[in-house]
Amino acid sequence: MKETSANLKRMTEFGIGEGISEIIVATKNSPSGEKPFNAAPFGIIWKNDKMFLRLFRGTKTCENLMQEDFFSANITADSVLYARSTFYDLDSHEFSTLNFSGTIVPVLKEADRYVVFQCKNRVLAEDTILIDIEPIGFKIQTPTSGFLPNRGFYSILEICIHLTRYEQTRDPKYIEWIRHHWSLAQRCGRKNDKEALAILKKRMAGFEDDF
Ligand SMILES: Cc1cc2nc3c(=O)[nH]c(=O)nc-3n(C[C@H](O)[C@H](O)[C@H](O)COP(=O)(O)O)c2cc1C
Repeated sequence: MKETSANLKRMTEFGIGEGISEIIVATKNSPSGEKPFNAAPFGIIWKNDKMFLRLFRGTKTCENLMQEDFFSANITADSVLYARSTFYDLDSHEFSTLNFSGTIVPVLKEADRYVVFQCKNRVLAEDTILIDIEPIGFKIQTPTSGFLPNRGFYSILEICIHLTRYEQTRDPKYIEWIRHHWSLAQRCGRKNDKEALAILKKRMAGFEDDF
């Protein structure tokens, strides 16, 4: 489904543009789950004026979005939040909630901005699910003065992605890529990028010999 030009303009104002924009998706867990909400990083794909998510099966987010039609896309430059939400559950008190026509939608309190999306159509493939999405709500929580590109921050995102793939496949190419980004994050990163590295180091303790 093509987006309206008003929606595309609003998305651009919120920093989500063509290509793949990295955000943290917050979803509601099933009532039988231990925790009420889940958060994890995903890419919003914007192509030919359409927006969608491509979710690998097996993730909690994928499971939740097969049941729920609403989620929030949280925009932040906090690499610690990325590292924690990729590999661990966030605490319940880190979420606030919105009510969309009787449906509860979680958002991250610490996000600078968020966009609420509605899932429109799901296409199931063998390993992935493609979901057409439409933005239905926008909010700025913390006006920021702009985020200057920092290689340390992007390297933390790369390490998170490669480490999830390494955990699934044990393909040694990911070790090389993680090493490369590790040294960049150490060299260029800011204080919270170093804190994110400490979280990732703990996560990698189980595979110390591989690294
Ligand atoms: C920056 C970034 C972008 C990601 N994008 C995607 C994506 O588009 N699709 C996907 O299936 N996994 C993606 N991942 C991996 C998931 O975040 C990861 O599998 C996570 O553990 C899923 O958590 P969950 O089981 O709580 O949903 C991404 C990870 C990062 C760090």
